[in-house]
Amino acid sequence: MLPVAELHMHIEGSLEAELVVALARRNGIDLPTFDPAELKSRYRFTDLQSFLDIYYDNLAVLRTKEDFYDLGSAYLARAAAAGVRRAEMFFDLQTHTQNGIAPATVFGGLTAAIADATAATGISADLILCFLRHLGGDAATETLRSALPFRDQFIGVGLDSSELGFPPSLFTESFGLAAAEGLHRVAHAGEEGGPDYVWEALDLLGVERIDHGNRAMEDADLVARLRDEQIPLTVCPLSNIALKTAPPELADHLLPAMLAEGLLVSINSDDPAYFGGYVDDNYAAIETQLSLTPAQLGLLAENSFTSSFLPEAEKEALR
Ligand code: ADE
Ligand code: ZN
Repeated sequence: MLPVAELHMHIEGSLEAELVVALARRNGIDLPTFDPAELKSRYRFTDLQSFLDIYYDNLAVLRTKEDFYDLGSAYLARAAAAGVRRAEMFFDLQTHTQNGIAPATVFGGLTAAIADATAATGISADLILCFLRHLGGDAATETLRSALPFRDQFIGVGLDSSELGFPPSLFTESFGLAAAEGLHRVAHAGEEGGPDYVWEALDLLGVERIDHGNRAMEDADLVARLRDEQIPLTVCPLSNIALKTAPPELADHLLPAMLAEGLLVSINSDDPAYFGGYVDDNYAAIETQLSLTPAQLGLLAENSFTSSFLPEAEKEALR
């Protein structure tokens, strides 16, 4: 496996069914089943929302700093083994605060997991706080204010959860505050929403990367902008198949067309515990099913470092 950076993964989406069960037992929380295989048998999705419903349900098992530490540690060990040298990990703070968990518990566990993983494997990792679109703009601003005491423990903000009906224009205040704080800004756009959501994320939120962005391909002017400004798109092939945001066969994915357009595309796992694999599994799937050349795979890996928020000198050391 080539050395890569992973820029689009939700740490909560790496919560494997086995860990859901272990944490439920540890915390005395009831589950519909304590059989991981049976839990996983429910992971058949028709769209983004059908996934999110199950994903949020499972997150009720995360209660303590140790739980967040175990979650982060499991991902970082698996990612390092897959060739990930740099991880920019999304986390959904609002999900946990809604479950009654203090921000200090979430930050404490995840930050300790990163420190120990870096010491053990050399992996470089940072956190990006994602706002939940379905909770609206005011909640996003309030959440960012509540996270500012931990400002040195995350490098940016993102925008995730239910896309349709929650356009980027609702989040100008929170992204403005993030910019004033010197935080990086990214947003999911063009996963289920149309190219207009991508335009809004760029023009109204000032994002530096677009997460997914597949539907940008429907708008030639937008494709030209993304190419000319080399705005990164973090594409997630196995996620697209699982959530039906791409044609059913991976062989028909738009990735080769995106590369042919000269877009700055990278490959990412999104929610690896739910969509059939980690970043190495995504690379293996596109290599075989899209018949990508070694040069194209090398370009995707190189793009992942180019698109990362690490300072240039630190990128060089990891490539
Ligand atoms: N939260 C976790 N995974 C997500 C995805 N693929 N899209 C939007 N929100 C998410
Ligand atoms: Zn995502």
